[in-house]
Amino acid sequence: MDIIWHKTSGQFHLFNDRISYIFGISPSGELAGIYFGKRIHDREDMSYIQIRVGMPNVAVDPATESYSMEINRQEYPSFGTTDFGTQAFEIETLNGSRVSSFVYKSHKISKGKEALHGLPATYADEKEAMTLEVELVDSVAEMTLILSYTIFDRYPVIARHATFKNNGAPRVKLTKALSCCLDLSDQNYEWMQFSGGWARERIPEVRKLSTGTVLIESKRGTSSANQNPFIIIKRPRTDDFAGEAFGFSFVYSGNFIAQAEGNNHDRLRILMGINPDRFEWPLEKGESFETPEVVIAMTDCGLNDLSQTYHKLYNNNLVRGKWKNRPRPILNNNWEATFMDFTEQSILKIAKKAKEAGCELFVLDDGWFGERNDDSAGLGDWIENPKKLPEGIAGLAKKVKALGLDFGFWIEPEMVNPDSNLYRRHPDWVLSAPGRKSSLGRHQLVLDYSRPEVVDAIYSMLCKVLKDAPVSYIKWDMNRSLTEVYSNDAPAELQGTIYHKHIMGVYALYERLRTAFPDILFESCASGGARFDAGMLYYAPQAWCSDNTDAMDRIRIQYGSSYGYPIVSIGSHVSAVPNQQTGRTVSIETRANVAYFGTFGYELDLNEISDEEFQEVKKQIVFMKQNRELIQFGTFYRLRSPFETEQNAWMVVSEDKKKAIVGFYCMRAKVYSLPGFLKLAGLDPDLKYRMEGKQYFGDELMNMGITLAEFYAKGFSVSEDYASFVTVIEAE
Ligand code: GLA
Repeated sequence: MDIIWHKTSGQFHLFNDRISYIFGISPSGELAGIYFGKRIHDREDMSYIQIRVGMPNVAVDPATESYSMEINRQEYPSFGTTDFGTQAFEIETLNGSRVSSFVYKSHKISKGKEALHGLPATYADEKEAMTLEVELVDSVAEMTLILSYTIFDRYPVIARHATFKNNGAPRVKLTKALSCCLDLSDQNYEWMQFSGGWARERIPEVRKLSTGTVLIESKRGTSSANQNPFIIIKRPRTDDFAGEAFGFSFVYSGNFIAQAEGNNHDRLRILMGINPDRFEWPLEKGESFETPEVVIAMTDCGLNDLSQTYHKLYNNNLVRGKWKNRPRPILNNNWEATFMDFTEQSILKIAKKAKEAGCELFVLDDGWFGERNDDSAGLGDWIENPKKLPEGIAGLAKKVKALGLDFGFWIEPEMVNPDSNLYRRHPDWVLSAPGRKSSLGRHQLVLDYSRPEVVDAIYSMLCKVLKDAPVSYIKWDMNRSLTEVYSNDAPAELQGTIYHKHIMGVYALYERLRTAFPDILFESCASGGARFDAGMLYYAPQAWCSDNTDAMDRIRIQYGSSYGYPIVSIGSHVSAVPNQQTGRTVSIETRANVAYFGTFGYELDLNEISDEEFQEVKKQIVFMKQNRELIQFGTFYRLRSPFETEQNAWMVVSEDKKKAIVGFYCMRAKVYSLPGFLKLAGLDPDLKYRMEGKQYFGDELMNMGITLAEFYAKGFSVSEDYASFVTVIEAE
């Protein structure tokens, strides 16, 4: 890994063993992109790549007579230039002009990576990464722009963000400040997004790119289940096992856009950042604005490799604290078992059975506080309901501890029901526009986290509950999108800052709680997986993946999530059947075979299942305890896509390739059809492995594949809907 500055050509080359990222000062003084891809040799000057030809109807820079930005690649384009593509940022100066031009002034190359301010971001020490900061100035607007680039030693990854500073102009206004722009030199790519809605999150969708724009976004105040802030730009032939692709992962949990734009000169521009719609950030003299980070990964070996890069980078350089790289406790959550109708006695009964089964953590979900007996009241009143918990959270936690289980509970700290004491005391603490109605979502309003006193008040209430309570886990929920976004505390000219300040307030509360209670494992949640993003992983190393716990649907949701997020971050539980969301009945074996590929736990009352099933549950927990380190932190491969076939298969392989676990799922049986083969991946071709009592070479398993008929004998049948098996492969 190194970052080279070629002074004579004004070019930078960031590289490691796998990638090269090259850009430099363009003939007009701004920064221009040169190359991003597989590692290439370093050269003093690559400006030959810049095209300078007179063309009809192309505007050129007056200093050069032939250099047009439109037909060249740009690094972080601005408005009003010879580039007619979408700009990465926009600044309005006092005279109403939005034209800007930032030219190179200086740069700094350093080892490691500095933290962002109040924002989630990847981190790295001096051996793990190097950072380049390029300082650019716009002398008319009297502003500085710093573009930051971090290259990681072990990963084909560049992390980028930008910082704007007003150096002395009377007020300027940022009306757009994206985190990155990457121009590619042709348009023969496909776009892959991860979309859906409640209970069907992160479903991959692919489309061909050409001229024109593809854009996904969130304007909900949260990253959302509708669109995920992660996209892949891939060659049409790229699949999980081969081919070139770029990933763009936004380390942010609020409004965003991701965009690909092809112009008529075969240039493809990728942009990602805070959604400019509903964003306006005034900068007074001396003030600055820092964008969140985008993590751009590159592969020339297929999408499994791209996903593995994100899994490893996020586990090692994004997740922090005690739970970093630690196998996760097997939990039992009472939500689907009781909803809000419980007493301390009924909870302890469920917990006792969970302990008997081998679970390690009991989680009390919604309904323990205020007048919270259904979802119409109580949110915001973070004080235990004595009718349900006579000795409070502390009392229950101690009793659960005495059973031999750790204890955790549910909160939804960003919200308030109008029917709550908090709202009656502070009706102005919610986001709401003067004189207008306030829309409800699940009977609740959104607290205005742009106001520090609101965050303080919630923090103190939660600290009181946590004081003296042996709590080791918190499920942090967020169950509605933001509407009527207006802060009663901010002047007119700052209303455009509220969406961003609100999410900064959420991050601030997370940071305070995790600093005060460093041993607590946080699991983020938002009506299931509506805020499953890299920003959240910085604070909460796992996320409830979806309220849809049906094993067949979960295969698709977990498969889609695996493209951008580590397996250990995917909250996955076995729930009761018929499934509450789909009505489907799937065996307890298959439900567990899906849930193993995540954090693993149970979302039901284990007293309610048959003895036979309970014995099976005990075995499942023993299996997961033995194998979770490998499943959660091993190298994960998608083998067969549930979107292309009626089957799914995935596997994990240990770092030393001596052990692997394969999961195979028949989602819909095909009658009178031979079961076929499944080719494995990631093994050592020369090692001899043992699987189901027989010996195979690694190359046999990867090239010939495993004979699915083998599993017939063991009771697995491909002529049965929802059948599945999980098998362990070990080197001799
Ligand atoms: C959301 C979550 C669920 C559960 C309920 C509680 O829907 O996704 O898992 O916690 O809230 O109200």
